[in-house]
Amino acid sequence: MDVLMLKGGASLKGDVNISGSKNSSLPIMAATLLTDDTVVLKRVPNLRDTRTMIKLLQSLGKEVDYKDNTLTVKAGKKAGYIADYDLVSTMRGSFCVLGPLLGKLKKAKVSLPGGCVIGIRPVDLHIKGVEALGAKISVDGGYVLATAPKLIGNEIFLGGVFGSSVLATANVLMAAVLAEGETVIEFAACEPEIEDLTEFLIEMGANIEGKGSPRLKIKGVKKLKGITYEIIPDRIEAGTYILLAAATRSDLTIKNANLKHLFALVDRLNQAGVKVYAEKNGDIKVSTSKKFKPVSVTTYPYPGFPTDLQAQFMAFMATIEGVSIISDKVYPDRFIHIAEMNRMGADIRREGTAAIVQGVKKLHGAPVMASDLRASAALLIAGLMAKGTTEIHRIYHLERGYEDLEDKLLKVGAKVWREKEK
Ligand code: UD1
Repeated sequence: MDVLMLKGGASLKGDVNISGSKNSSLPIMAATLLTDDTVVLKRVPNLRDTRTMIKLLQSLGKEVDYKDNTLTVKAGKKAGYIADYDLVSTMRGSFCVLGPLLGKLKKAKVSLPGGCVIGIRPVDLHIKGVEALGAKISVDGGYVLATAPKLIGNEIFLGGVFGSSVLATANVLMAAVLAEGETVIEFAACEPEIEDLTEFLIEMGANIEGKGSPRLKIKGVKKLKGITYEIIPDRIEAGTYILLAAATRSDLTIKNANLKHLFALVDRLNQAGVKVYAEKNGDIKVSTSKKFKPVSVTTYPYPGFPTDLQAQFMAFMATIEGVSIISDKVYPDRFIHIAEMNRMGADIRREGTAAIVQGVKKLHGAPVMASDLRASAALLIAGLMAKGTTEIHRIYHLERGYEDLEDKLLKVGAKVWREKEK
C-alpha cells in the first residue's frame, strides 16, 4: 500500500478544476436501474466509489462503458436484484440501489452497509420509507429483502433523530417514481445532490414537484426513458480546495464549481476574515490578505454547514490564534481526526459532541493515519500547512473521493509524492 508524502509550508498558486460530484453520481448511477433504455452520464468522477458502483450495476445485469468521465449504461441480458455484500460493505452509497430495484423489479435484496468509523449509520429511515410504499421487508443473513407486488404512493415523514437523510430520501424518491398514485416525502433532504437526482429523474420522465425542497410530491409514472445528463460539480471537493487555499494562504482559483452550493462555508470563512467570491466567469477566488479570527461551526443538513467539510475546517482553525468550537449535529462522533491532528502539534480536545480547538502557532509534519475520506482530506490540508514532512497512511480513503488528487496538487505547486509502505 502507498503512503502519501507531503512537504508543507509552501504557498500554492494556480487553477484547480473541480470534478463532478461523487455524491450525486452514486444515486444517479443507481437510478439508471429504473429504465431499460440507455443512459449516458457525463462528468462522472473516476474514483474508487464510482468504480465500485459500476461493478454493482454490472452485477445487477447492466452493461457499462466508462471512458473520459462519460458513463454509458445499457440494459444487459437479464436484470438481477441482489446487491452483494462484497460491494455494498465497502461503500455505503451503494445501498441506494434498494429504491430503484424495488421500483423497477418490485424486489430487492441488498446487503446491509457495514459499520463506519464516523459513527453508527442506521438504515431505519430507508426501510420506513419503502415500507410506507407497501414493500414487505425482512432482514436475514445481513441482507435486507424487500418485496412488493406493487408499490402504492403514500405520505411519508422522513425526518430522523439527526434530521433528514440524504440516501434515504434518494431511495424513497427512486422507489416512488414508478409507484402507483401520489407520494409525498416530508422532511426530504435538500442537499444539492438530491436536487440533482430529482432533476435527472424529471428529465427521464418522472413527475416530481418541489425539487430542492423538504417536500417532494411524486406522481407515479409507468415508465422512465433513457437520457444524457451531466452531473453537478462536487461541492465538497470545491470546499476542500477553498479551505486548503485559506489554510495555506494560497492564491488558488477554483474552476468549474458552484459557490451557491457552499453558502454556509462562505459565511463561516467570511466571519473568520477570509473572502471567498465568484468572479463573472464563475471562477472562485479566495482572498487571504487579512489576519484571521477563530470561528465556531456546527454542522447541519443542507443548507447548513456540511459535515463532510467539518474535519477540513478544523484543520484550518488549528493554527488560528484563539479558540473555536466545532460541533457535528449530523455525525456527532465524527472526530477521529482530532488525535491525528494533535500528533502534528494541534491543540484540540473533544468535549461531548464538540471539539475545542485552541489555535497553535504552527503544525509540524508527522506520520498520520487516514481514518475516513474527509478526515484524510483534513490531514492533507494540515500536512500542507505544517513545517516539515507528513506521511499519510491508508490513503485509499482519499482515493474514494478526490479525483486526480496528486495531479491537481502538483499543478498548483504542492510538494506531494507517493512512497511504498515500509
Ligand atoms: C450522505 C453522504 C455523506 C454525508 C452524509 C451527510 C453520500 C453517498 N454520502 O450519506 O458523504 O456525510 O450524507 O451529509 O451521499 N440516519 C438515520 N437513519 C437512517 C439514515 C440516516 O438515523 O436510516 C442518520 C445518520 O446516522 C446520520 C444522519 O441521519 O446521523 C444523516 O445521515 P444521511 O444523510 O443518511 O447520510 P448518508 O445519506 O448515508
